[in-house]
Amino acid sequence: MPQDDSLSQSIHDLLPGTGDRIITLEQVQELNKLMSYYRCAMMEVVTKFNVLNEQFSLQFDRNPITGIKSRLKTIRSIHDKLERRGLPFSLESIEENLNDVAGVRVICSFTEDVHMLSEALMQQDDIQLIERKDYILNPKPNGYRSLHLIVSVPIFLAHEKKFMRVEIQLRTLAMDFWATLEHQLRYKKDFDFAESMGRELYTCAQLSAELDERMDGLRELVQKQTSGGAGIPEPRRRWVDQSHNLR
Ligand code: GTP
Ligand code: MG
Repeated sequence: MPQDDSLSQSIHDLLPGTGDRIITLEQVQELNKLMSYYRCAMMEVVTKFNVLNEQFSLQFDRNPITGIKSRLKTIRSIHDKLERRGLPFSLESIEENLNDVAGVRVICSFTEDVHMLSEALMQQDDIQLIERKDYILNPKPNGYRSLHLIVSVPIFLAHEKKFMRVEIQLRTLAMDFWATLEHQLRYKKDFDFAESMGRELYTCAQLSAELDERMDGLRELVQKQTSGGAGIPEPRRRWVDQSHNLR
């Protein structure tokens, strides 16, 4: 390993398990390049959702998306995940075996928005669906709900087009509330995750599902009232700064 290369050194620091292995400067640069491709793919997906949100809010005068989060897996957790699965830590192995190096989480207002957004995204002809897991229709045994999509998106580089995988999680505010707190509780250190707590969390998940259902009911009611049952609702009046017109 070249001594003057700080990136290479930091990879050694991150991966103590590879201490004996020689990591060349070229390998570090290649890894850096791959991570940058994943970052670009993540940005593409985030932009696609921002565009859908913009279009939808113009059409229906409300935002289906309340927030978008994105994250890139750290080299350390990429390494650990491959190691856990007994797979090699190489560029090819990362691309072939991991679907969640780039992750985008889309928090929606209503359950219907989750389905509408995933359908709208999948209609786009540059995006390919690799895998779809509907944990809303079929929640996990612990009560976890969300719609997961693994997609492949093209990124346009100077001289080539490259397809990169991104994991997308679509969920409502209520689903996100539950998942965030469940994650926090589950990963609390020095705490034995008692069975009774699992049951209590499951009950909370059911309550959050009921909350979503009731909110969806209210949304339908409002939609019927504002659109007379059909068509595009009248846009709400917005206050616009007209002070420049005052003399
Ligand atoms: P992994 O990424 O290795 O877990 O692969 P997998 O194929 O089992 O993925 P799955 O689609 O089931 O879940 C991927 C991601 O969804 C996780 O990394 C979490 O972010 C989220 N997730 C899945 N299950 C749960 C859960 O029970 N609770 C919470 N809070 N999040 C979950
Ligand atoms: Mg994961």
